[in-house]
Amino acid sequence: MIHNAVTDAVFSRQTIRAYTHEQISQEMLQTLMHAAKMAPSGRNCQPCYVRFVQNAQMLHEMHIDFKNLVGWDTPAYTRSDTNPFYHNAPTFVFLYAAQDSAMDAGIMAENICIAAQGMGLGTCIVGSAGALFNHEAGKKWNEKLHVPHDFRYQIGICVGFPDEKPPQKPRYDDRIEVIR
Ligand SMILES: Cc1cc2nc3c(=O)[nH]c(=O)nc-3n(C[C@H](O)[C@H](O)[C@H](O)COP(=O)(O)O)c2cc1C
Repeated sequence: MIHNAVTDAVFSRQTIRAYTHEQISQEMLQTLMHAAKMAPSGRNCQPCYVRFVQNAQMLHEMHIDFKNLVGWDTPAYTRSDTNPFYHNAPTFVFLYAAQDSAMDAGIMAENICIAAQGMGLGTCIVGSAGALFNHEAGKKWNEKLHVPHDFRYQIGICVGFPDEKPPQKPRYDDRIEVIR
């Protein structure tokens, strides 16, 4: 196995759902914004609108809206019965794109997660919040996030300093094969 800063970040990244209150530095923020910008995209269309939200009040209001509009909030595995969808992270990244650009958003999300891992930050990719932002009444948030009304929330990412060290989750060994 080849170990270097990049592969180590890939191998050690894991979902973090508990964060300290400390906000990430401005330099870290700029690095993550650059990592987002440098993500590849189909035909270099660069279809994603990316918003790094560091406004705790705004995130809290979204959480309340999620409960009121969407109503379900109990998948124990993601702890959304006890945590808001953003897991109390000090920074939450919203990736919006047109409906057919989910792949581009996913690839950008991983760029952000790996760059964050390299800086000692924790991340959690969040798909469930889409139920709010793609809900008719939840689309008001698009405006507040300066995203065109017809764009879709594709994926979000919690970012912050980890306040937990969960064990790495096992992976299936039989899903990846070399054919020669
Ligand atoms: C597309 C996608 C959507 C996800 N949505 C959520 C979510 O809504 N809430 C959450 O807490 N975790 C979410 N996760 C995190 C996964 O549960 C996590 O990546 C998975 O359990 C593997 O754990 P690991 O990231 O620690 O390896 C999501 C991950 C992906 C890739």
